[in-house]
Amino acid sequence: MYSGLVHAHSGLRWLALLLLVAAVFVSVSRWMGNQSFTDGNRKLYLFTLISVHLQLVLGLILYFISPKVNFNGMSERVIRFYTVEHITIMLLAIALITVGYSRSKRATSDTQKHRLVGIFYGIGLVLILAGIPWAFRNLGAGNF
Ligand code: HEM
Repeated sequence: MYSGLVHAHSGLRWLALLLLVAAVFVSVSRWMGNQSFTDGNRKLYLFTLISVHLQLVLGLILYFISPKVNFNGMSERVIRFYTVEHITIMLLAIALITVGYSRSKRATSDTQKHRLVGIFYGIGLVLILAGIPWAFRNLGAGNF
């Protein structure tokens, strides 16, 4: 079960990233162009939110079972990364994306709806890119 969860969590990053990049691109261009807010836009922003929440659920389960999470092993770089850095950055990013989605939903003008998603999802995307244990960072993780 542990290995299956790691693979799901690792592979799903690509879906979450793809949706985030699309959502940020669409929201910023429609915000700048003062364009209308469509059902398709709402769906894209919602599916993006769901994909990061799925990562949150998988990540939380992993946090309790992973050997790489250990409060007594903090002198080791990989242990410290998963025990403190990864979870902190990702929780902050997911919280911002959630706030952006709900504020966008409540906003009254179409431009404002796109603007809120563009800003909050945009910051979330940057944080997530910074919090991923990319293979080049030598944190013991692969790219899939
Ligand atoms: C969008 C948000 C997230 C993304 C894109 C993401 C991505 C990743 C990736 C790529 C790995 C490396 C997997 C591998 O070894 O191949 C990983 C590992 C891990 N993540 Fe996340 N993560 C996210 C959110 C979270 C959250 C919120 C938590 C905790 C609540 C979390 C907990 C973990 C843990 C504990 C591991 C280590 C698993 C292990 O190898 O034992 N992640 N994450």
